[in-house]
Amino acid sequence: MFTIKFKIIIAYTVVFGVMLTIFAAIIYDSTKEAAFIKLDTNLKSYSISLRTEIEDELGDSTSLNMKKLSSIRAKGLVGEKFQLFDSNGELIVKDSTLSKIPTESLSKVSSGPFVYEKKRIDHHKYHILWSTFETEKDSTYILETAASVKDVYEDLDRLFYLFLFIIPSGLILTGIAAYFISKAAFKPITQMTDTARNISGENLDERVEIPKAKDEVRALAETLNKMIERIDNAFKSQKRFVANASHEIRTPLTVIQTELEILEKKIKDNESKESIQNALSEIEDLTRLTSSLLAIAKLDSSQNKLNLNQIRIDELLADCAQTMNQAALKKNIQINLSLDDAVEMNADKEKLKSVFLNLIDNAIKYSAPGSRVTIVLEKKSGSKIKISVEDNGIGISSSEISYIFNRFYRSNEIRAEINGSGLGLAIAKEVVELHRGEISVESVIGEKTVFSVTLPTNL
Ligand SMILES: Nc1ncnc2c1ncn2[C@@H]1O[C@H](COP(=O)(O)OP(=O)(O)OP(=O)(O)O)[C@@H](O)[C@H]1O
Ligand SMILES: [Mg+2]
Repeated sequence: MFTIKFKIIIAYTVVFGVMLTIFAAIIYDSTKEAAFIKLDTNLKSYSISLRTEIEDELGDSTSLNMKKLSSIRAKGLVGEKFQLFDSNGELIVKDSTLSKIPTESLSKVSSGPFVYEKKRIDHHKYHILWSTFETEKDSTYILETAASVKDVYEDLDRLFYLFLFIIPSGLILTGIAAYFISKAAFKPITQMTDTARNISGENLDERVEIPKAKDEVRALAETLNKMIERIDNAFKSQKRFVANASHEIRTPLTVIQTELEILEKKIKDNESKESIQNALSEIEDLTRLTSSLLAIAKLDSSQNKLNLNQIRIDELLADCAQTMNQAALKKNIQINLSLDDAVEMNADKEKLKSVFLNLIDNAIKYSAPGSRVTIVLEKKSGSKIKISVEDNGIGISSSEISYIFNRFYRSNEIRAEINGSGLGLAIAKEVVELHRGEISVESVIGEKTVFSVTLPTNL
């Protein structure tokens, strides 16, 4: 696929190439014409000088002074030579390289005072000038003068080779210039594309840079920014709606839960009791879902700032294990804690708590009854700590492992059997990253899963 930049470079180069070639052809042609006009003018001057001398000499005597005639030089001519004929074409002065006048050409060469002709003699091109004149004694003579065009063609060849060098060099320079010009012209568009490409649901507050020049590119940037603003507003109102809805749902849910718990205690009929227990379990799931939605909405909004305090992470982990113990006992799962030292760190206690509660909840949820969950806290180099939560549960397949931190992602196999919203790990990842930490997972399907959280202690 050709980019606009590439097309502009090609267009510039082709147009300049055509112009340069036409220009070179015109210069070559006019130089050639001027050179031949000059050659013919010089040939004529040579002919006139010779003729004047011949007229002078033939006026005084009947013989010619050949030495004097040969010494007459011609300006700007190469290999000039001459022959003299009488009116019948009989040679009076002969040159070794020039030939006799063929009888059929006699009338042509003597048709005017000056008749030009081009001829090839011994593989060399010559310009010939026939000059017919009369002496005072009324005798007619034909003077043939000739000059080689070798020098003219040598000069033209030099010009031709110069163009052969200049045109490709000019084209290369035009290509380079066109590249830089189009690069500069497209720079704002390239910047806009990069910014627009990086804008996602997470950073809709970013805007593309507005170029200073009031041109089409500026109009495009402004339109793009307005569009991003509209999307941003739509996203914000959607998030506000989710946050408000979750918040509003929580209060009636708590009321329903309390009422049902009271009712469950009062009812003696086992069948009705079971129905109420089922309803309570559903309400519990719904309460957890609304809490997760509220948490994710808060993380999305500007309220995602951390409420940092000096906390004891070992105590927090013990607290989480304690909270989850009830659920673990229901499945006869043992939670083991390995917390070496007391570790203090700067963190948002409530948010970190939600991370570990979800990891332990997952470890219990996705493990068979009677198995074990191990929580390990280790100090690492560079003021870092690592917390791992390991289980011997169902594991996660390698094809799914890259999706589990996505919002609402749940494994297809467990979707129908185990309750959950698929938000727990997405929230955990965001909270850990807000603490400048990392969360990772290793798993062997059907054997074990280990989630590791690395956090800096000096945030
Ligand atoms: N310890 C684990 N063992 C096996 N699979 C796991 C484990 N932890 C998470 N997963 C997989 O990752 C998915 C996403 O987990 P996540 O905690 O985000 O959601 P959830 O547990 O399904 O729902 P909830 O929002 O209630 O936490 C799970 O549905 C499950 O498929
Ligand atoms: Mg979970």
